[in-house]
Amino acid sequence: MRRKIIALVTGDGSGPEMMSFACLIAQKAAKKDDIEIVYEETPMGWNAYHQYGDTLPESSLEKAIEIGTIFFGGVGDFENDKTIGVKKPEMKPEARALLKIRKKMGLLLNFRPMIYYKVLAHLAKVKPETIPDEGVEQHWIRFLLEDSYFGTLDFIDQINDETCLKLGIKSKKDVTGKEDMVTELSYFKRETVEKYFRAAFTYARTKGLPVISIDKSNVMNRYDFWRKIATRIGQEEFPDVPLTHQLVDSANALLFTPAKLHGVIVCGNEHGDILSDGAAAALGSMGIMCSSAINPDTGAAMFESGAGTAPDLAGQDKANPIGRILTAAMMLRHIGAVNGAGAIENAVKETLIAGWRTTDLASLNDSPEMILGTSEMSTKILSRI
Ligand code: IPM
Ligand code: MG
Repeated sequence: MRRKIIALVTGDGSGPEMMSFACLIAQKAAKKDDIEIVYEETPMGWNAYHQYGDTLPESSLEKAIEIGTIFFGGVGDFENDKTIGVKKPEMKPEARALLKIRKKMGLLLNFRPMIYYKVLAHLAKVKPETIPDEGVEQHWIRFLLEDSYFGTLDFIDQINDETCLKLGIKSKKDVTGKEDMVTELSYFKRETVEKYFRAAFTYARTKGLPVISIDKSNVMNRYDFWRKIATRIGQEEFPDVPLTHQLVDSANALLFTPAKLHGVIVCGNEHGDILSDGAAAALGSMGIMCSSAINPDTGAAMFESGAGTAPDLAGQDKANPIGRILTAAMMLRHIGAVNGAGAIENAVKETLIAGWRTTDLASLNDSPEMILGTSEMSTKILSRI
């Protein structure tokens, strides 16, 4: 049996409750490919702060980067934000841990697939008749670096104090709310955008799907740039892959008719953050979103589920674990455990087809005994593997 070490961040809020099952499920499923998964804990988030005085302890960061594959349970919660976060804003773990790792590991590609099955059409928040018999595949690939997320952070040191003051450019932790103006810098580098589009077109080609590129090129310069690069790379290098462009505002409206977004959907960091939550909710619930972040050059990867930490449900055994569990399947596929990955995806699908629900997925027609908590839902899925 091959051993595979994975850095584990159990996380904040409901993260640990969901991750304990997702970890077990991944271990069991990986055995189908003769792989033994061994977790090494690398604590991050507010839980790490309470233990080590830092939401990103240096030892955790070093170890996680060295291991190169991270299973990440989500960080952040409002209670700590309101207390320690006010006194020490630099400790807020979303920026300190999550964004730092994405940047340090060069995690450019953020895969967030939303797959609609006709048999589960009633789970979707959109009208069932909008889902065709053959189902819908939306392969969201969010551009996870640069953009408005990293613009100010990356360039503030290169701008003199006088210009920063005049234009309202400041670090996030220094914002008081009393400023006359605050400016956010946003950028895309040609080299990064080209790399991103080559990866997305290649992925679309292997799946036999079109590329749908989201932008705001009618207003913003960086998206004019984005669209021109997409068009050039498409025409010159991937003439066999259909490419369409969609403005972000109209793309948002298309979330209600999922079949119109059937394909590989590429979008900037900020647009992808917003649209992927909407896409997950349209599919059923944010609790079923799975998510992986990959460096296409080194293969470094973080499996992070976009579902957040559901802090309001923490400790109550109520959070939907499916997003974390499907993220474990993505992780297995990445480490070569393809049978295990398929087994997890099937187990989730079968469990839902059998009628089991978590609260966020339940409708008025579901009988109360079919509505399960985190541990019961996880156990149902585990038993099908
Ligand atoms: C996501 C999350 C993160 C993001 C937050 C927690 C920083 O919303 O992965 O979608 O905005 O990227
Ligand atoms: Mg998000």
